[in-house]
Amino acid sequence: MKKIYPFLLILLLIWSCKPTSEKASSKNITHTRGVIGKQAMVVSARVEASEIGKLILEQGGNAFDAMMATELALAVSYPYAGNIGGGGFMVYRLNNGDIGALDYREKAPMAATTDMYLDENGEVIPELSTQGALAVGVPGTIAGVFAAHQKFGTLPIKTILTPVIALAKRGVVVTEKQEARLNEKRSDFLKTNTDTIHLALPWKTNDTISYPNLARTLENIMHQGRDAFYKGKVAETLVQFLKDNGGIITKEDLANYEAQWRTPITFNYDNLRIISMSPPSSGGIALAQILKSIEPFDLDTMGHNSVAAIQLIAEAERRAYADRSFYLGDPDFVTVPQDQLISTDYLKDRMASFSFDKATPSSEVSHGKVDIIESDETTHYSIVDQFGNAIAVTTTLNSGYGSKLYCSELGFFLNNEMDDFSSKPGVPNIYGLIGAEANAILPEKRMLSTMTPTIVEKDGKLYMSLGTPGGSTIITSVLQTILNVHEYNMTMQDAVNAPRFHHQWLPDEIRMEPNSFPLETIKKLEQKGYTINEKRTPVIGKVDGVLVLDNGTLEGGADKRGDDTAVGF
Ligand code: DON
Repeated sequence: MKKIYPFLLILLLIWSCKPTSEKASSKNITHTRGVIGKQAMVVSARVEASEIGKLILEQGGNAFDAMMATELALAVSYPYAGNIGGGGFMVYRLNNGDIGALDYREKAPMAATTDMYLDENGEVIPELSTQGALAVGVPGTIAGVFAAHQKFGTLPIKTILTPVIALAKRGVVVTEKQEARLNEKRSDFLKTNTDTIHLALPWKTNDTISYPNLARTLENIMHQGRDAFYKGKVAETLVQFLKDNGGIITKEDLANYEAQWRTPITFNYDNLRIISMSPPSSGGIALAQILKSIEPFDLDTMGHNSVAAIQLIAEAERRAYADRSFYLGDPDFVTVPQDQLISTDYLKDRMASFSFDKATPSSEVSHGKVDIIESDETTHYSIVDQFGNAIAVTTTLNSGYGSKLYCSELGFFLNNEMDDFSSKPGVPNIYGLIGAEANAILPEKRMLSTMTPTIVEKDGKLYMSLGTPGGSTIITSVLQTILNVHEYNMTMQDAVNAPRFHHQWLPDEIRMEPNSFPLETIKKLEQKGYTINEKRTPVIGKVDGVLVLDNGTLEGGADKRGDDTAVGF
């Protein structure tokens, strides 16, 4: 933000003379601090999961022990997105400054084919990639939590899983938001499953749902380790269940699944160093592209959610998402030109067509030119432990309750992550994202993701851990939360609460949280040629994060849009 191009100085002078109403939305933000912890913090989508994560830390465990506990407690308490039938990504920063990333993303089964969701005329068959057994990718979550624990964990698996299993047996109280989500998906549960699964019953707020079959599955995993899920009893039951429901995942698919350690994407923005997820997520690269595109401009002077700031960010987003759709895919299968895509020269060139006068139509923005050198629902949690280690983890079944297919005998939902592949070039997936060859379905390939678990350093020290669900809007929600803290000096809680907007190249529109932006801002953007859509996404992301304050204490920011809860000590 600090290196201002000379011509921009003139523009900024003009803006500074404008009425302050353009900065109106920051006026509406109440200044609240989130939960403060002196030593450690866990922020997740449910209080039960945050509490279990905290309990493990209090028992002397570190962030990686707490990861296993929180992830599996979310599978119990938040079946909407928490899972053992899905996958995710973790980015970490150890207290000695070492960083890394873990990819436990689902994979296409070996029997998958590029055109498996197309009819004989080459058209996409509705719902085949989103509901039922064919939509399911080989799950990675259990491999992920065991890989993290094996490398960095310190407590016995039994100590970590015992409170999770107790929670599954004891049951979880239904919140208002959960009642609404279950109501919304009930007909899909009934359509997709041959039996009436217990989550399809008419649950009401304050009822308690227990999960005895999931408790048994977790007990198996506790006693036999990850192999119970990938090779043992759970694997056998799961493969048979999927086969009975028309799926193609085999015993071999499960036995071959491995989580992968990856090198995260790192880049600087002002005095921050951002560490985010690498492919097969597009998150880190797109975040780098957007932040580096806007870095030469003086965003804080423009004002939070001002017309100029929205324009600048939306135009950078438009260009980044156009690149995402063309270049990004599983790095084990395609060459992703990541260094070129985040290089300063390339991004300067991409932004050359940007003007504050009017919108650049998406029809005029394609992916940039790079020489390739051969050589619904998700959930996020952030943990900083009492030793100074930090993790950011985003995990998903894709849509809310994934494929809606629920294995009653094992007690969990299966993902519908196969929809994150490009079923057909140019045809949008459920998030409206367009893909190309790089993200075509191939056996054992990982589908492209937008999940963006991110850690931020300031002046070389741990500063933030954050992330969010929200499909295609994940990257832009993480982006705005970092900017809210860094450019606008917001608390973590305010940064998370602030109204958000989103542009993803296609469709050519800025999505805005309804009733959150002044009419005047919307009108001015429309006059400049932007289409504003306040309907498509009533909620843009659900960000959870931890901020290290100047005095070394930790502030947890839990998104008010959900049941999210921060707990610290
Ligand atoms: O990996 C992805 O990008 C998607 N499967 C994430 C889905 C998601 O965030 C749904 N939440 N609203």
